Amino acid sequence: MKSKKISSASLFKRAEKLIPGGVNSPVRAFKSVGGSPIYMKKGQGAYVFDADGKKYTDFCASWGPLVLGHARQEVVEAVQEAAADGMSFGTCTPREVEMAELLNSMVPYLEMVRMVTSGTEAVMTAIRLARGFTGRNKILKFDGCYHGHADYLLVSAGSGLLTGGISSSAGVPSGAVNDVFVCAYNDIRGAENIFARHGKDIAAVIVEPVAGNMGLVKPEPGFLESLRSLSKKSGSLLIFDEVITGFRLGPTTYGKLCGITPDLTTLGKIVGGGMPIGALGGKAEIMKKLAPLGPVYQAGTLSGNPVALAAGIETLKILRKENPYPRLAKFAKKIVAVVDDMAVRKGIGVKCVSEGGMFTIFFTGNTPLRNLDEIKSCDTAKFAKFFRKMLDNGIYMSPSQYEVDFISAAHSEKDIDAFISALKTAI
Ligand SMILES: Cc1ncc(COP(=O)(O)O)c(C=O)c1O
Repeated sequence: MKSKKISSASLFKRAEKLIPGGVNSPVRAFKSVGGSPIYMKKGQGAYVFDADGKKYTDFCASWGPLVLGHARQEVVEAVQEAAADGMSFGTCTPREVEMAELLNSMVPYLEMVRMVTSGTEAVMTAIRLARGFTGRNKILKFDGCYHGHADYLLVSAGSGLLTGGISSSAGVPSGAVNDVFVCAYNDIRGAENIFARHGKDIAAVIVEPVAGNMGLVKPEPGFLESLRSLSKKSGSLLIFDEVITGFRLGPTTYGKLCGITPDLTTLGKIVGGGMPIGALGGKAEIMKKLAPLGPVYQAGTLSGNPVALAAGIETLKILRKENPYPRLAKFAKKIVAVVDDMAVRKGIGVKCVSEGGMFTIFFTGNTPLRNLDEIKSCDTAKFAKFFRKMLDNGIYMSPSQYEVDFISAAHSEKDIDAFISALKTAI
């Protein structure tokens, strides 16, 4: 019998009939870059292979979790071993103790942690915990930061909401967002003003300490420090949402690297090594308010799932042992230097911003890129053309101007050179 040829195009046709927009997460739909989505069938190291059999060097890394690249042997073996022992028990398991101890040893200010199943869940729980701990309702967040898809955090959110041009989602009752203040990223004065007027009502200020959901935006000197002191003074909690940055910029959190200790930290992505996971942790005094010790409820059938933990534990151990971070940062800087040089020599409005092994190529002129308003100066149509040219040249990037690209420990100098050579043609 002749086997039916499967291609991304044919899969998408079938998917559109049964899955809204043909996708299970909006940015995958390629709306902002045009064309139809690519269906990946296999990943190995730095490469992915689509349903049509085309090979790409991958710089999306499943949106961040795959800091070791695809299907790293030790991680796969850890998953196989865990799965063979049973996929889920709904009971306590040894790996959750191991993970809590590992996280605490790599980030000592995570005095207690709770594992959940996604970054969204981690943030929802952290916010509820902050509210329960402080007895206050208000939240301060920053324009263009994305913290998952809980109702009250879909105000001025980044990531897919920017890509789709949705500033906040339908279906979110106004009551859900009434308690949320929004301030521009890096706007110390703005945050001071909000705290001056409402500080005593604010349960938590939540921030991506390096923003990755409007493209890469770094904190300016003093920004995170001022959030730390404002929240401390007013008795509200500081939450660092490190779902992207946790274990991405060093074998620890960004908070630990920059010397600012938040009250709570949310994690996801890398701590699951590519499996569904989330975690929150912080001061024991606060964490002890979670059920069953305290009155703040959180639960999950698959929370602390042993197979996901096996992948996460193995990933963290490898990161600790191998410390690939200086190499990742060096590779990103090489890309930045090439983009900067092209911008100057060819007079093109393009610039590359990097932090460690994370980077975004922005299609903009000389505008500083400190907050969402400035990021919106970018030419998304140019980015779309660039993205498609990179695809044609075998490079898979995150499919939106408002996202970050990731270099993994599996990328070699040759892969970075391939990226640079594709970039030179595409730009
Ligand atoms: C900073 C940040 N927080 C939270 C989330 C939500 O995580 P998840 O997609 O696992 O629910 C994301 C997802 O990209 C994120 O980037």
